[in-house]
Amino acid sequence: MTLLITSGLIIDPARNLEEPRDLLLEKGKVAALEPAGVIPKEGRKVIDAQGLVVAPGLIDMHVHLREPGEEYKETIETGTRAAAKGGFTGVACMPNTRPVNDNASITRYILDQAKAVGSARVYPVGAISMGSKGEALSEYADQKAAGAVAFSDDGWPVMNALLMRRALEYAKTFDMPVISHAEDLALRADGVMHEGKVSVRLGLKGIPAAAEEVMVYRDVRLARLTGARLHIAHVSTAGAVAIIREAKAAGVNVTAETAPHYFTLTDEAVVGFDTNAKVNPPLRSEWDRLAVIEGLADGTLDAVASDHAPHSVLEKDLEFAAAAFGLIGLETSLGLTLRLVHAGEITLRRAIALLSANPAAILRVPGGTLAPGSPADVTLIDLNREWTVDTAAFASRSRNCPFHGWTLKGKAVMTILGGKVVFKETN
Ligand code: DOR
Ligand code: ZN
Repeated sequence: MTLLITSGLIIDPARNLEEPRDLLLEKGKVAALEPAGVIPKEGRKVIDAQGLVVAPGLIDMHVHLREPGEEYKETIETGTRAAAKGGFTGVACMPNTRPVNDNASITRYILDQAKAVGSARVYPVGAISMGSKGEALSEYADQKAAGAVAFSDDGWPVMNALLMRRALEYAKTFDMPVISHAEDLALRADGVMHEGKVSVRLGLKGIPAAAEEVMVYRDVRLARLTGARLHIAHVSTAGAVAIIREAKAAGVNVTAETAPHYFTLTDEAVVGFDTNAKVNPPLRSEWDRLAVIEGLADGTLDAVASDHAPHSVLEKDLEFAAAAFGLIGLETSLGLTLRLVHAGEITLRRAIALLSANPAAILRVPGGTLAPGSPADVTLIDLNREWTVDTAAFASRSRNCPFHGWTLKGKAVMTILGGKVVFKETN
């Protein structure tokens, strides 16, 4: 099947391209990118993208698909359908499944399942340590051979600094990135939200910003020691942004992501005790939120990733302290990122880079560009389309989203995976 997408504004940040072009997709690949009228329309299915942005298929480098083991929260089928609906053609899935993905057979299971029922490319992240217990390293060669793209114990930090050092050294021998869930468990203690004025007012136990920052600092120093590729997940504090900025300036091999909720919400969202605002790391202060935006704008933070963390009412319909951490984001990530563009905080090209080219480069996965020969993964975005977030209409199996009822401006209206339309806005 050949698809010709005409008259859209092509934004391909990897090649500094931002121009109206016609885009030809053939045999699952980008075949050509030419000024209007150069590529003949005859015999081709034509999609008119006048007024739309044509971007590389978006890639979310941090999601939880919950399969195997917690299929009542999400499956590879429902999670990748949510991805397609949100404009994503690729997702990296964290290993905190049941059992933990710390071996080749689970990685292969995820990939087989994705091939059979998936609506997006799925990139499994293997566990750093067996069972993500932080005690013994898992087998990296096997996991890499099976298709793992990175290692992480996400959900849990690696508390033992020596084990983290060994993980970085071991991953380096395979040229694989280690993704750090940076959190000092002793400092976190039994905190349930950000430690600050709001936690005091609400009488809830706090998690200090330092619980994240001391681990970001430790891991950056270990990256310097080992020369390995370190990626910091879900950056939420001003201090963490500053540490990463300084490390990059010093030449440390470190990249970082943040999630839309950290640049959209603050700990004030917890007032009212909405457990959908309970997430780890927690929603921080306005000061932190502004620092995260600055980090996205100045290049300190490389990617926006949703940390899509589905939970059912069983884990969420509880008093605040007892509820699980996590919120879903695949279907709102693009819209929330575009708020920064509409507000003039970052350029549209930067937003697209944060959501496609950069995560592709960090994980070294295909796509993230519309260069001829690349996979025919494309997202058509209507920047000005206003829509209301309605969790009842989500493709995800879960509903734990704090943005229900919000009006957002900007939406994926078509998602194309390997040259096939996997999502199309119908109304
Ligand atoms: O809020 C969170 N939820 N943070 C994590 O690190 C894990 C995630 C989950 O798996 O639910
Ligand atoms: Zn995490």
